[in-house]
Amino acid sequence: MEKIIEEALSGHVGETGGLITGLRHVQERCGFVPRDTVRIAADLFNISQAEVRGVISFYADFRDEKPGENHIRLCVAEACQSVGSRQIERELTDKYSIAMGETSASGEVTIEPVFCLGLCSCAPAAEVNGKLISRASAKRITNEVGG
Ligand code: FES
Repeated sequence: MEKIIEEALSGHVGETGGLITGLRHVQERCGFVPRDTVRIAADLFNISQAEVRGVISFYADFRDEKPGENHIRLCVAEACQSVGSRQIERELTDKYSIAMGETSASGEVTIEPVFCLGLCSCAPAAEVNGKLISRASAKRITNEVGG
């Protein structure tokens, strides 16, 4: 894992915004940003570990825990709330017995809130494993997950 993290980060040292780009590559390759990333990034970019932690915690897209096999992102911003995203949230969290931001005990599903997926005109919106779903419903989302 350490080698993967180093490879993902090292090509971006010295670039403007290189830390963020590197962290995104770490997440793409690992599925999340493992704890060791903080130390490795601080060494490579010659900054403090607190600065790296600050960047990871500032951007909601960075996950510091391994996600479930299926990754659901449900928009809970205003346009989507106005047409039912909170109801979808209730249905999904009931179905998988988890709260938003959690992974099911089986590891099958992670559900995360997001604040706008750029599909406001066809809200409610969600994303399942990277696939955008407009005019989403709990049924459409769970069908995409596979059950
Ligand atoms: S507010 Fe939900 S996609 Fe923009």
